[in-house]
Amino acid sequence: MIKLGVNIDHIATIRQARRGDVPSIVDAALICEKAGADSITVHLREDRRHIQDKDVYDLKKSIKTKLNLEMAATDEIVEIALDVKPDFVCIVPEKRQELTTEGGLDVKKNKKSLASCVERLKKVGIIVSMFVEADTDQVLACSQIGADAVEIHTGRYAEFYKENGRNSLKFKEEFEKILKVSQEVAKRKLLLNAGHGLDYDNVKHMCKVPNIKEFNIGFSIIAKSIFTGLRAAVKDMKELIKGSL
Ligand code: PXP
Repeated sequence: MIKLGVNIDHIATIRQARRGDVPSIVDAALICEKAGADSITVHLREDRRHIQDKDVYDLKKSIKTKLNLEMAATDEIVEIALDVKPDFVCIVPEKRQELTTEGGLDVKKNKKSLASCVERLKKVGIIVSMFVEADTDQVLACSQIGADAVEIHTGRYAEFYKENGRNSLKFKEEFEKILKVSQEVAKRKLLLNAGHGLDYDNVKHMCKVPNIKEFNIGFSIIAKSIFTGLRAAVKDMKELIKGSL
C-alpha cells in the first residue's frame, strides 16, 4: 500500500492572506490525519511565504503521524531542522521567484555540500530524502552522499498528462524514466517517494510504479477541499444569520 503524505502549505497561504491565526495549521493537520493521511508535509521556505517557523514546532508537538519537512539546504533552515527534529526531511532546490518548487536538485553537481547537510541531519535521527528529477544518475549521486530516500519530482509527468493524457510520446518517455528510477532506487536500497502536481486524474497511473513508498500531495487536495467544504460553510453562515434575527 502506497502511503499518503499531505502537504498543507496552502492552508498557511490562506492564513497569511490576513496574517492571522485562521485557518489553523494544526487543526488542518489533525483533520488530514483523521481522514487517513500517513504523514504531514510542510515546506518552510526561506521567504516564509506560507509556513512559518512556529508552524513547524507546533506540528511537531501536535501530530500523531510523521512530520516531513521540505527545505532548502541552507544553514538557517538546517539549524531549524536540527532543532525541531522532524521524522523526515526532503531537501529541495529553492528559488525566490518561483511559484512552487520548479525542478529537482542537482545532487551530482553539489555532492560535497549536500553530503555534509545529509550527514548533519542524519546524525540527529532524521530520515533524509532528496527531491530529484527522474534521472538514474541523480539517484546514484543520492546514494553516494548517504541519503536514505529519493523523492521523484513528478511535475513533468503531471504536465504531460494534462496536455495529452497518457498518449503522447513525451508522457511515455517521462514515465519510462520514472520506471528506471524505481529500479535504480531498489538496487541502491533507497526509499522511494514521489510528488508534485499529482492530482485526482493522474495519480492512478503513478500507482503502477513499483517500489513507491509514499506520495506527497498538496495543491490538488487543498483545492478540492474548498469545493467539498464550501456548501457547508455557506449554509452554516446563512443559518447563523437567520438564527440571530
Ligand atoms: N513534494 C515536494 C518536494 C514539493 O516541493 C511539493 C510542493 O511543495 C510537493 C511534493 C507537493 O506538490 P503539490 O502541491 O503540487 O501536490
